[in-house]
Amino acid sequence: MISRKSSFYVTTPIYYVNDIPHIGHAYTTIAADILARYHRGRGREVFFLTGTDEHGQKVQKAAAARGMLPEEHAGLMAENFKNLWETLNISNDAFIRTTDQGHKKVVRDILLKLWEGKLIEKRSYEGWYCTPDERFWTEKDLMNGKCPDCGRDVEKIEEQNYFFLMSRFQGRLIEYIDKNPAYIQPETRKNEVLGFLKKHPLGDLCISRPKKRLSWGIPLPFDGDFVTYVWFDALVNYYSAASYLAPPDVKWWPADVHLIGKDILTTHAVYWSTMLMALELPLPRTIFAHGWWTIEGKKMSKSIGNVVDPAEVCQKLKDDYGIKREHAVDAFRYFLMREIPFGHDGDYSEPALFHRTNTDLANDLGNLLSRTLTMIEKYKDGVIPEPLPLKFRQKQSEDIGGISYQKVLEGDVRDSFLALKKDRIFEKHFDEITFYAALNYFWETAVKLANKCVEDSAPWKEKDQDTLSNVLYSLAESLRLIAIYIYPVMPSAAQEIWNQLGIGKEIEKELRSNPKLIEWGEYPVSGIKVNKGEALFPRIVIKTAPLTEKTIPGGTPKITQKETLKMQEESVQPAAEAQQENQKAENLISIEEFAKVELKAGRVLNAEPVKGSNKLLRLEVDLAEECPRQVIAGIGKQYKPEELEGKTVIIVANLKPAKLMGLESRGMLLAATDSEGTLSILTTEKTVLPGAKIK
Ligand code: MSP
Repeated sequence: MISRKSSFYVTTPIYYVNDIPHIGHAYTTIAADILARYHRGRGREVFFLTGTDEHGQKVQKAAAARGMLPEEHAGLMAENFKNLWETLNISNDAFIRTTDQGHKKVVRDILLKLWEGKLIEKRSYEGWYCTPDERFWTEKDLMNGKCPDCGRDVEKIEEQNYFFLMSRFQGRLIEYIDKNPAYIQPETRKNEVLGFLKKHPLGDLCISRPKKRLSWGIPLPFDGDFVTYVWFDALVNYYSAASYLAPPDVKWWPADVHLIGKDILTTHAVYWSTMLMALELPLPRTIFAHGWWTIEGKKMSKSIGNVVDPAEVCQKLKDDYGIKREHAVDAFRYFLMREIPFGHDGDYSEPALFHRTNTDLANDLGNLLSRTLTMIEKYKDGVIPEPLPLKFRQKQSEDIGGISYQKVLEGDVRDSFLALKKDRIFEKHFDEITFYAALNYFWETAVKLANKCVEDSAPWKEKDQDTLSNVLYSLAESLRLIAIYIYPVMPSAAQEIWNQLGIGKEIEKELRSNPKLIEWGEYPVSGIKVNKGEALFPRIVIKTAPLTEKTIPGGTPKITQKETLKMQEESVQPAAEAQQENQKAENLISIEEFAKVELKAGRVLNAEPVKGSNKLLRLEVDLAEECPRQVIAGIGKQYKPEELEGKTVIIVANLKPAKLMGLESRGMLLAATDSEGTLSILTTEKTVLPGAKIK
C-alpha cells in the first residue's frame, strides 16, 4: 500500500451533460491537470478524476428536447467533454459517468447504509421548487417570490420525500471547519461558509424525487417509487471512483483536493461534508472554490452569444496567428492561471489573451530560448559548452542617471535557481493552489532574470572564451530548469524546450525517475548539440486595416478615411505653414505644442535587419496596444538585433507613418548622437511597463 504522503488525489466537479463544454468547465479541469502533473513530477502516485453528471431533471429535459432517450443524449454529450479534454492536453486518469454501474452500486450501498443507520427519514414535504436548479426553497428563502439563486419562477410542491438528517451534523461541521483552516479555501470562502453555518439552523436535505415526476435517476434501494436527488448521486462520485476506477494498491480516500467553482461551494462544503460525516468517512483535505470568468465584462450566457469555446480559441491561435496547436493550448492554459488569482473572478477577452501571450510567452520565454540557441549555434558550433570554474568577476554596475544599477551575471542566475529550490516558495504556492503567485514569482526570479543576464552579459561583445562558455552554459541550464518548472502549466512548450536544447527525453518520465533533476547542474547538458526549431510562441500580430481607415498612430481615437483626408488637407493650409515659419524663427515651442508629441516607452519584442540595408533594423515594439508596432530604425550599424530584444525604448507614437525600404514605420525610435558620431538609443532609468507615457 502506498502511503498517503506519496499519493495525490485531485478531482474536478462532474459536469452536467445538458450543456456544451466552455471556458468555465475548462478552467477547473486545467487547474486540476496542472496539480496532477505537478505532483506526478514530484514522484507521487496521482489519481486525477473528472467526469460527467448525467442524471436529473435538466438532463431529462435536454434529452427530451432533442427527441432522445436520456442515456443516448448523455452518451453523446459526455463525448464532447472527453474530446475537449484531449484537445486541452488534460491528463485525467479516469473519467467517471454517474450512469456507470460501478458508481450506481456505491450510491445504492451508501443510501442503504444511511437508511439502516436511521439517518434517512420519509416525510411529507411542502416547499417551493426551482426546476432548473433542482432545489427546494422555503417560503422565506424566496426573493420576490422567485428562486433566490437564479431568479427564475418556482412552483409550490407538496409531496412525500426522503430526507437525509443533515441538521444533526451542524455542530460537528462548524467544529471541523474551525479546526481545519485549510479545509475550505480560499479563506474568504471558508469565512462565508462558517458565517452561514453559525447564523442559520441547518435543515435536513431532501434526497429523493418521486419517480412519477422524474424518472431519470438512481432508484432508492429501499423504495422503488423514488429516484435519488441528483446532487446526492453526483457528490458520491468522488468516493465511488476511488473504489472502482482508481488503480488498486493505493488507499485513495480521502481525496486531497476537490476543485470547484464558487457557485457550488454549499453543496460541497455542507452537503458532501455532512454526508461523509454520517458515513463515518474521512473528509477530503481541501475544497478549493475558484472564481468565475466574465467575458469582456459580461456574464457568459448563451442568450448573449458570448460563450467561449476553448477549442475554438486554440484553433484560432493556430489558424490566424500561426501558433502550433499544442502551444496555443499552452498559451490558453497559461493565460487562465496567470491572469488572475485562482480564487478571484476575472475577465476574459482576446486582446488580454494575446497581450499575455506576446509579453510573457513570445517575448520573455520564447525569446530567451531562441536567443540562447542562436548564440550557442553562432559562438559554439551548436554545442552547449562546459561550464568552467566561475571566475571572480567584479560585480559590474552601470551608472544610469546617477543611479547605480547592478548587472545580472551568469552566477546570479545560477544562485537564483539554487535559491528557488532551497526556499521552496514555488512549491509552497503549488501546495496552496496559488498558481498566479507561483507563475508571477517564477517569471521574475527565473525567466526575466535569465533574459536580463543575456542583456547585461552581452555575449556578442564578450572576448573572453571562458566567460562566454559560462554564460551560454548558464542560459542553457536555466532553460532546462525553466522547462521543468513550467511543465505542469505548459507541458508541450516545456517539452519543446527540452527538444530544442537537444535533450531527447520526456520531462515527466525523467523527473519521476530522478527528482534531483530539478537542481542546478544535475543533468549534463554540456556537450549536447542543440536543435533550434521554430519559434515557441510566434508573436501575435493583429492584421489591421490600412491605417487611414482605422486608426492613427498611437491611436486610441477611431478616425474615418474622410476625416483623415480632411486632416491631411488642413495640415497644408497656409495658416498652418505661417505658424510653422514663426516657430522656426523663434526656435521655441509652447508646452501645448510639446504636448502634441506623444512619447511612449515600449519594449522591443523582436529585431531583425532589413533586407538590402546595412543600416536599417525592423523592430516590433510592444506599446501595450492591440498589436505590436513595426518601427524601422536606422541604428543597424551601432546595434545588433539581439542586443535590442527585450530593451525598453522610447517611441514617438503619433508620428505620421513613413515607408522605409518598402516597409511601413509606425513610430520613431529616439536616440542620441554626439559630435563624435556615437549613437545611443534612449531608454528609461527603471523598468516601466510598455505603453508608459513620457511627459
Ligand atoms: N454537475 C454539477 C457539479 C457536480 S460536482 C459533484 C455542476 N455542473 S456544471 O456543469 O453546471 O458546472 C461545473 C463547473 O463549471 C462549476 O464548478 C462552475 O463553477 C463552473 N463554471 C461555469 N461557468 C463558469 C464561469 N463563467 N467561470 C468559471 N467557472 C464556471 O455544477
